[in-house]
Formats: sequence, C-alpha cells, structure tokens
Amino acid sequence: MEQNAEPNVVSMPRIGDKAPAFKAVTTQGEIDFPAQFAGSWVILFSHPADFTPVCTSEFMTFASMEQKFAEVNCKLVGLSIDGLYSHIAWLRTIKDKIEYKGMKNVEVKFPLIEDITMEIAKKYGMIQPGESSTKAVRAVFVIDPKGIVRVIIYYPLSLGRNFDELHRIVIALQTADAFSVALPADWRPGDDVIVPPAGSCGVAKDRMDGKEDMKCYDWFFCTKKLDKDTVLKACTKKK
Ligand code: BEZ
Repeated sequence: MEQNAEPNVVSMPRIGDKAPAFKAVTTQGEIDFPAQFAGSWVILFSHPADFTPVCTSEFMTFASMEQKFAEVNCKLVGLSIDGLYSHIAWLRTIKDKIEYKGMKNVEVKFPLIEDITMEIAKKYGMIQPGESSTKAVRAVFVIDPKGIVRVIIYYPLSLGRNFDELHRIVIALQTADAFSVALPADWRPGDDVIVPPAGSCGVAKDRMDGKEDMKCYDWFFCTKKLDKDTVLKACTKKK
C-alpha cells in the first residue's frame, strides 16, 4: 500500500524516510511534492496561522534569506491550516505594511501551501494535539535532492525558529555528504570535521601514532581540517 494513503491517519515521517508525497494548492500555484523539487534541497515548514505575530516575524526573516538558501540549492515551502485567500492577504499585508527589524517591502516568493483539510499536516505530524488540535506546530523538514527526510525539528507555537541554524543545517548536511565526514557540536564552515571512526586496530594505532594528517583526541575521535572555501565551493557549486 502507498505510504500514508489514508487521509485521516496521523503519521510522522522519520529521518531517512522518503518524504510523504502530496499535491497542493499554494500561493505560487499547484505543487507536486517532493517530485517537482527533485535535484534540490527543500525545507518544508509549517506555521500555526496567518496574521499572527511570531509567524509574521518568521516569514519576513525566511523570505529575506531566500537568496542565501538558493545559493546552497535549497528551496523553501511553507504550510499552514489556512486557506489560499488568507495566505494571499497576509503576504500582501507583510509586503505593504510591515516594517520589522530593518526588513520592509518583504515579498514572500516561495510557495505557501493551503491545508484547510489538514491532510498534509497530518501526513507530516504537524498537528500535535497537546499544543493545538487546530493549528500546526512550527515543524521543519529538511529534505534532500533525492526526496529523503534528513532533519526534523519541531518548535512550539510560542517560539520562533532560528533561521541561521536552518541555513547551517543545510550546509552541514551537504558537507557531510560531499566529504564523507561528520560535524561536531556547533560546527561552522571552516571548523575541523570528524573523520569516520577507525575500522581496524591497525588504523586506530596509526591514527594515535600521528601517522595520518589528523588530530586525535582518542582513537575513536579524530578530526581533520576542511577549509571554509572548500566547503562553500562544494555547497554553492552549480548542480
Ligand atoms: C504567533 O505566530 O504569534 C502565534 C501563533 C499561534 C499561537 C501563538 C502565537
């Protein structure tokens, strides 16, 4: 049976799953998700409601960073349990009237999905009844160019997201994939990266003896340099 075929079944994709597929009406026309985004990274995110302050601050911030995300081959797609005309009216209000933290005339060019039936929100576990049964929480799904869910983050209604962190996540995932490395706590481009653990006693010994170009804190925890330009070139390379 097709994954999540039942519209009323509440489910939640997991990291490593194929992103549940859907077709939707958006402020940028109909979309076929994730098929039409194949080849790009995508951040699919939900917000509780149009015409609310935290969401407005988030949309202004995200829209202002859209070019930064595009530079790392990442597209943005929003969703709330509101109708298309509410979405359009809210985005027009943001552009025409709201000036916030130096941002003004902000045009939201990425698609905002209408999901009054909650069908998509339910497929993605965006409705968390302990928080609200009528509004989506602030969910974030980072989906890779093959349509696989790579990161999931949930925030409550009262807390706006950190969009610099979402940008860092996209760069970090691309770096991990391109260089077969892992990234330590608070990693930023230019910081040392973690090499895969030694797979044999010989390799572990060589690493501890300093025979490889790495810094080893112990045999299972070794890092190497990966300069910022190399990282950014890999992430911004024309695909
Ligand atoms: C807001 O975006 O401001 C908001 C939305 C729903 C509940 C609480 C805050």
